[in-house]
Amino acid sequence: MSTVYLNGEFLPKEEARISVDDRGFLLSDGIYEVSAAYRGRFFRMDRHLDRMRFGLRELRIAYDPGDLPEVHERLLDENGLGNVEVSTVYVQVTRGVAPRTHHFPPGPVAPSVYAFASEFIRPSREAWERGYRSITVPDRRWSRVDIKSIALLPNVLAQQAAVDAGARDAILVKDGIAVEGSHNNLFAVFGETVVTHPASNLILHGITREYVLELAMGLGYPVEERALQVEEIYSAEELFFTGTTTEVRPTVSVDGRAIGSGGVGPVTRALYDAFLQGVAGAPAGAATARS
Ligand code: PDD
Repeated sequence: MSTVYLNGEFLPKEEARISVDDRGFLLSDGIYEVSAAYRGRFFRMDRHLDRMRFGLRELRIAYDPGDLPEVHERLLDENGLGNVEVSTVYVQVTRGVAPRTHHFPPGPVAPSVYAFASEFIRPSREAWERGYRSITVPDRRWSRVDIKSIALLPNVLAQQAAVDAGARDAILVKDGIAVEGSHNNLFAVFGETVVTHPASNLILHGITREYVLELAMGLGYPVEERALQVEEIYSAEELFFTGTTTEVRPTVSVDGRAIGSGGVGPVTRALYDAFLQGVAGAPAGAATARS
């Protein structure tokens, strides 16, 4: 039985209850965050908290996430996850319980805070080395996807389209630009140049994206943050996704068209190796220059 956190309490999941008047339930009025712990050590928790603070400020939800690192640690302990290779904690904060109106409740309302932990099973290296398929899907999201809103219906529909097509990932396309995945950021490699969409209002500013950019620079790869035309991604040498629950995932075909050699490329592999080494707790700056 798993133990979850709800509004200041740790309790068995079966006993966790929220009101049907919660604005998260009625209006998707809230934000969420997913962070990973490697053998019990959270990866870049400060960046996750920064992104939460940004979202909460944009939505004018009065909640200070300062206590969450302790909540996260305790969730791992309570659920026996302190020593597993990878675990994740999901947390969401909604505006709270109030009669349904489109505008904010007039008086102060306590935000609802819910969190749970689970084990993350990394794919075998053999599976990873075979690579994965993806498809392109129109990006039907709103224009503030830099806020990690719990309103994820377009993402859900995009990911389901991928599942229906027998693909692992969906590439969201807006105005001819391949912006990101349904729940991860997209990178393309041309020669040795690593390219990803700029951190604008059109993508979520992924913590993994930021880390992989640092790793790429550390490994001496040229890095560009620019929009990728959808035609460009078909002719990229390599494509991969990054995310907390994606880590670094290679795509070897898009819409049935082979990418590069049709296999996992050397830049993606080098970045994944550096990522695995980095999150396993190697000293900061673990990515060493290529010989
Ligand atoms: N998704 N882009 C989107 C649309 C996302 O939903 C996510 C994360 C990312 C990657 O961000 P990060 O590297 O900080 O995880 C990019 C989470 C994991 C989810 O929805 O479960």
